[in-house]
Amino acid sequence: MKQTANGLKDTASRSWTPQSWRGYPISQLPEYPDKDALENAYTKLGTYPPLVTSWEIDALKDKLARASRGEMFLLQGGDCAETFDHCTDSHIVKLLKVLLQMSFIMIHEMNIIVVRVGRIAGQYAKPRSKAHERIGALEYPIYRGDLVNAFDVDTELRVPDPNRLVEAYHKSGLTLNFIRSLTEGGGFADLHHPEYWELDFMRNNPYYEEYANMVNSITNAIRFMEGLMPSQLPSLRQVEMFTSHEALNLYYDSAQTRRSPHKSGWYNMSTHMPWIGNRTRDPGEAHVEYFRGIKNPVGIKVGPPCDADDIASLVKILNPGNEPGKVTLITRYGDAEIEKGLPVLIDKIEGQGLKVLWSADPMHGNTYATEDGTKTRDFENILGEIKKTFAIHNERNTILGGVHLEMTGEDVTECVGGANGLNAGGLSSNYQSYCDPRLNYEQSLEMAFLISKLWKEHSGRS
Ligand code: PEP
Ligand code: CO
Repeated sequence: MKQTANGLKDTASRSWTPQSWRGYPISQLPEYPDKDALENAYTKLGTYPPLVTSWEIDALKDKLARASRGEMFLLQGGDCAETFDHCTDSHIVKLLKVLLQMSFIMIHEMNIIVVRVGRIAGQYAKPRSKAHERIGALEYPIYRGDLVNAFDVDTELRVPDPNRLVEAYHKSGLTLNFIRSLTEGGGFADLHHPEYWELDFMRNNPYYEEYANMVNSITNAIRFMEGLMPSQLPSLRQVEMFTSHEALNLYYDSAQTRRSPHKSGWYNMSTHMPWIGNRTRDPGEAHVEYFRGIKNPVGIKVGPPCDADDIASLVKILNPGNEPGKVTLITRYGDAEIEKGLPVLIDKIEGQGLKVLWSADPMHGNTYATEDGTKTRDFENILGEIKKTFAIHNERNTILGGVHLEMTGEDVTECVGGANGLNAGGLSSNYQSYCDPRLNYEQSLEMAFLISKLWKEHSGRS
């Protein structure tokens, strides 16, 4: 939908409340049959303590502003969809471990501070292309993520259940509590032991030696720092981690949107960085109405079909003060489309002087099905889109300041390719995702290593 200059002014002057979105057409929000239960869940969520604080949210916005100037780099990643069953010790530890190790690789190779943002502690809702699916002889409501209904093939369990909104809050709280203990309490201090880095998968790769040397040098540097500054040990052992999710189910996000004492404005306190999906960014609809009123830094997914003028209007609606760090444009055109779409978008956004952080999601434009219908992504296409994105920004003197990946610390077999040579035939051995295919532990580390190499080439720092 096109917005005229007058349209923009109208949007900005319309009054906003955390619930004003309810008066707009909305995509991707399921119909809850039990309205009383829905309103009860909504009210309950509003009484619970916030999951994150306004000062953490503001701190992240400052860091994203720095990333937009090339002074930091955003590493955002995690599951396509978290599930309630995966709210476990081992799943969380493995994701944090791989995110941290990737960030260490980037810090070491790029000589830059890395801002870590998990798709975690609230990434429970999924946009879907159809409302129903046929399994066997029957039609079922589509699975929309654990926030909404169950994955089980069961007509009852597929009905949107408002109690899941409350359960998602509890699971997010448990996840965040554990993240905070691990990252603030020094639980990851042992990461400098080389045995915590699993490297063998790279053995037959031409980069193996370079990679092994780098890991040695990272672990030595951490050990050296610890020896040099024992009194600083507690702070050295702390690492910073932020959370993000797609704010798709606005009942969940708006119920947790509140004011902070002594500050102006409203914060979504369920997460540090909500993002708006590629399918729900129409300026005439409810998601944009909700997003325009919150002070959090926000992500906008941008991929086909999209019009550069529409995205520029959207950026102005969500960031009328042109505040740096407020908007991250997460481009996800796909390896085949990026050269067509991204240059036009960059020229439009930069041409209008709009301050954004450019980040690349090389996952969502590169999904395809194998012959037997398994959803996968090829490591080569993922890397290919990142390479092209770096080159396009480089040609225009703009800065690619972050990446957005679907990944896990588990040894799943969901994406093909990478140094371990997973092929289509191997996908079924440990395919776990209910939604999109993720990079596994090895593919994620390798990706961090290759992204760092690309960054060095393009920043002239190699
Ligand atoms: C996602 O990030 O899981 C997602 C659905 O992305 P997009 O909105 O870019 O399709
Ligand atoms: Co996804």
